[in-house]
Amino acid sequence: MGLRGCSIGFITKLSWLLPFCFLLFGPFAAAETHHYNFEVKLSPFTKLCSSKNILTVNGQFPGPTLEAHRGDKITVYVINNTKYNITFHWHGVRQIRNPWYDGPEYITQCPIQAGKSFSYEIQLTKEEGTMWWHAHSGWARATAHGPLIVHPGPSTSYPFPQPYAQIPIVIGEWWKEDVMEIPKNAKRRGGEPILSDAYTINGQPGYLYPCSKQETFELTMEQGKTYLLRIVNAVMDEDLFFGIAKHEMTLVGKDGIYTKQIKTDYIMITPGQSMDILITANQSPGIYIMATRSYSSAFGAGFDNSTAIAILKYSTTPPTPKLNHFFPHLPPYDRTEAATDFTKRLRSLTTVDVPLNVDTRLFFVLSVNLMNCSNNDKPCAGPFGKRFAASINNVSFVTPSASLLEAYYNNVSGVFTTDFPENPPRKFNYTGENLPLATSFGTRVMVLEYNASVEVILQGTNVLASDNHPVHLHGYSFHVVGWGLGNFNPKTDPKHYNLVDPPEETTVGVPNNGWVAIRFKANNPGMWLMHCHIERHQVWGMSMVFLVKNGFALDQQILHPPHDLPSCYN
Ligand code: C2O
Ligand code: CU
Repeated sequence: MGLRGCSIGFITKLSWLLPFCFLLFGPFAAAETHHYNFEVKLSPFTKLCSSKNILTVNGQFPGPTLEAHRGDKITVYVINNTKYNITFHWHGVRQIRNPWYDGPEYITQCPIQAGKSFSYEIQLTKEEGTMWWHAHSGWARATAHGPLIVHPGPSTSYPFPQPYAQIPIVIGEWWKEDVMEIPKNAKRRGGEPILSDAYTINGQPGYLYPCSKQETFELTMEQGKTYLLRIVNAVMDEDLFFGIAKHEMTLVGKDGIYTKQIKTDYIMITPGQSMDILITANQSPGIYIMATRSYSSAFGAGFDNSTAIAILKYSTTPPTPKLNHFFPHLPPYDRTEAATDFTKRLRSLTTVDVPLNVDTRLFFVLSVNLMNCSNNDKPCAGPFGKRFAASINNVSFVTPSASLLEAYYNNVSGVFTTDFPENPPRKFNYTGENLPLATSFGTRVMVLEYNASVEVILQGTNVLASDNHPVHLHGYSFHVVGWGLGNFNPKTDPKHYNLVDPPEETTVGVPNNGWVAIRFKANNPGMWLMHCHIERHQVWGMSMVFLVKNGFALDQQILHPPHDLPSCYN
């Protein structure tokens, strides 16, 4: 595997060639290409006490782990052996100048249809740490997802002592129903998707579920050793609290970017986020539980209140059957302070390129709306015979049936408009009571000049029901320079911005009835989706798209489309 320019073995045998290698390949001499195959298929999944088929990659749930070093390239050949459309997204990878491989269905490509194939290229640049990949087509991502791990490059190391072992911890969500059927109701009739039946840790809900007893995920730990947990929240609809009994956790990275170290007893992790956590086996030999359950802040909304667990077992644990299992303390389900107490401590490890002078100021309000039923969606499935919608700046995103990126690249008109509003249509007390419930629909994108220095205030609202909205931006990472509860105050709040070491993220939780301020330089041309990573909000329309224009120089422009890009037609 891999195409090393000058491999280490080669260099040591013929060391006089070394300067040569640098001349030929430059500092990237050691970048490798890693090839993976994804077969999308329906596979029986008996581990979860049901024999029904689920949509998987290579028959695995969670799917295979992709691994590479900083700056490497990964190729993924996808063959779709299901009746469903599919695409894949590499969540957290910037895909510089290469939106063609970013994956969101009908934004950057048309889906890979039944029986068809497509090869993705994932060119890593500064990403390092834990990220993940997932299907980006309807609800397929519920079961088609897995970790994407980037190790340090050949001449660098972790900003912490080399861990003894690295363990992916993928948290998923499980339905007894066929998940591929769930969105139909939510999308067409504006209803609430049904609640899940369990959360899972590495594919298992844990021994609180009798049928999972034998297969509960178990990590055997050696006394005194330090482990790097690579945690991904791959659930569809809920933020999570996560903790480990009697073991302090040290956060060292988030979303594929290192952080300053944070010692903590629990984390709050939103759908879409990934975290790198160190733990040391420094307790007496025994069995300790890691557990996760939801942080659900939406007033009145139902949620899956189950707990998933996995086991940490010291290798020196004596084989007594009655040994105590220690459980972690997790905050109560609705404790917003516990969520913000954790997230407010996040800081980037190194201080780099925080845009100080902003030339493009955007103010986006995030709302869940209630709409009258139209003839197309009758009968509606929301409260009072109405339908749910969700919006950004009062625009509920309508997914087109042709690729936005292709339409832009080929100058096809009529697929989208470029009038996404910079501000909500009118000002109101966003976090007040009795707010207007309706929204408008459209496929409207916001055009950004190349290299624009952008600030977006993401303002949560209390329209219908407030909630924590984990907002994910494709194609970029951004700096979270400020946050607060209530309405953003443009006069006073910017005075408290952190422009020194703000956390750098790709998915940020906008607190319930609060706001965050994010900044980024629009230096990656393309069509980039930004959306809430809570699936029911996304299905209802809480998405928008940035069209970042090309720069003048050739290396500031979108690359040519791949020759095998899936066709939008049969
Ligand atoms: Cu994790 Cu639009 O994706
Ligand atoms: Cu949301």
